[in-house]
Amino acid sequence: MCGIVGSVSTKTNIIPILLDGLKTLEYRGYDSAGLSYLKNSKLIINKVKGRVKELEKNIEKDAFSNIGIAHTRWATHGEVNETNAHPHNVGNITIVHNGIIENFSKLKHKLEEKGYKFKSSSDTEIAAGLLDYYYKKYENIDKTIQKFMKKVDGSYAICMMINNIPNTIYVIKKDSPLIIGTNKNTSYIASDVPAILKYTKNYYILEDYEYGKITANNITIYDKEGNILNKQLKEYQGSTLTSDKGIYEHYMLKEIMEQKTTIRKTINPYINNIDDLLKLPDLTKYERIDIIACGTAMHAGLAAKYLFEEYTNTKCEVFLASEYRYQNNFLNNKVLSIFISQSGETADTLAALKKVKENKCDTLGIVNVKESSIARILDKVLYTEAGTEIAVASTKAYTAQVALLSVLILAHAYRKKSIKEEKILKILEEFRAVTSILNPILEGTKTYENIAKEIYEKSDVFYIGRGLDYALAMEGSLKLKEISYIHSEAYAAGELKHGTISLITKNTPVFASATNKKINTKTISNLKEVTSRGAKCYLITDEDIQDNSFEILKIKKVSMFLKPLLTIIPYQLIAYYTAKFKNCDIDKPRNLAKSVTVE
Ligand code: F6R
Repeated sequence: MCGIVGSVSTKTNIIPILLDGLKTLEYRGYDSAGLSYLKNSKLIINKVKGRVKELEKNIEKDAFSNIGIAHTRWATHGEVNETNAHPHNVGNITIVHNGIIENFSKLKHKLEEKGYKFKSSSDTEIAAGLLDYYYKKYENIDKTIQKFMKKVDGSYAICMMINNIPNTIYVIKKDSPLIIGTNKNTSYIASDVPAILKYTKNYYILEDYEYGKITANNITIYDKEGNILNKQLKEYQGSTLTSDKGIYEHYMLKEIMEQKTTIRKTINPYINNIDDLLKLPDLTKYERIDIIACGTAMHAGLAAKYLFEEYTNTKCEVFLASEYRYQNNFLNNKVLSIFISQSGETADTLAALKKVKENKCDTLGIVNVKESSIARILDKVLYTEAGTEIAVASTKAYTAQVALLSVLILAHAYRKKSIKEEKILKILEEFRAVTSILNPILEGTKTYENIAKEIYEKSDVFYIGRGLDYALAMEGSLKLKEISYIHSEAYAAGELKHGTISLITKNTPVFASATNKKINTKTISNLKEVTSRGAKCYLITDEDIQDNSFEILKIKKVSMFLKPLLTIIPYQLIAYYTAKFKNCDIDKPRNLAKSVTVE
């Protein structure tokens, strides 16, 4: 969601460091931005509604400072405006904050009774007020922070400057990521490692209820009782974030095109032969697989459910993490819980994972970001190798998740002998050829552009399918609505006539995929039902179908284990070109953020 950057140095001007970090993090939250620094011991705060480039224009030319904190916001409490943007200053305290202070209204009331007046509707200003109150009361920063952690409910990564302590930044962390980087004579703070990679690869990770005191040459991290911790300095191992769109107009298109390599890279260690396949974890002791995730990652789980149940005869349930964390989970030691996350920081997924861990049940993760909060807690992690995904709408992370889950399920099928070895070898061969299999789809962008031209002025679009194709319909529909703002819904193909078909009128676009020969004729009948009512239908299929009543997008015949990869790319490209015709901000759709670190 929001992004935090901070820096303190002996000599270096930290303002370009902060702006640079904010630009790197901007894809995570971008409704407003702010920066504060000390200029000759005077606190300067700049805030804008809008993007970091606007903030940059607002900052005094030649501004120089050795200490500062900065933020890009994704609004939780209070509308998007300059007043609600961070940093927030109350009395001696200036903070930027990621997360949500859940008991902010009670705290606000108490502080107001003590004479505090607040300017914004942000929960962060209340947090600043509370810190100021304790700091005035105890005249001791450690006691202030410890008391603050006891009194505040919710999640927070806080980066704080204090008026009369000019060379030090304090940080406090619970349930929102925060790291502290170090290099000669300069320290860095960020919500995400990429923000500081240009300056250092060495950093400490703060865990929940830890806080830190940071000067240019010294980093001290404490537990909630104030004991000094001996933390391990990490060295970043992942790829550095590239801000280069290459030949593409948008990151989303670049990331769609990258899929032929990111899928291959992700599954590469497992597809050469059966020995390689069996490097994947053995799931045979489990009677049930639960998959828990949010959004697109949950849709990857739905595709996996189909493959688990159909090809390994293993019961698989898929849960939205936001629901899972508050429901009865029927856990026991015969259940494996698989968590899927691109960012590895999604608050609901993280909370659901903590719940499973509290129940002492086994966990496995499919995660893209190494050393992320989710990756650090899981019993076992399989990493997708999608690289950094910058466009807010997930594409290459989704296909990497689906491909990795598919080979995991294939390994399970081998161990359970539910698919013959001969067939498994053939599927592995197809996986090895995935790049050339996907090429014709990725090279056929004109077709999808033409379809986008037909639908971009529509107000409603429907996606239908059965089984695995239904899971893909859900992801196709989400892609379209999140970046083009066209209302769209996905339905199980057989369900439409139980109510929703009343919304089909002349030329309503309906997309379907029919890639399972066992049930294709059923889906096609459902498509006929909507064409008869005037819908304009597009069908993705690997079958030879002659029918002029809908437009057919033919894909290659491959095993069911690869079909989701071939079906989803046309949906991604149609969504992309539709948003482009509508002149939408494709990489940064309104109201969204890349990493959802609040529940
Ligand atoms: C949609 C999208 C989101 C994410 C969801 C989970 O394109 O990207 O729906 O899939 O917020 O995020 P991660 O995978 O980071 O846990």
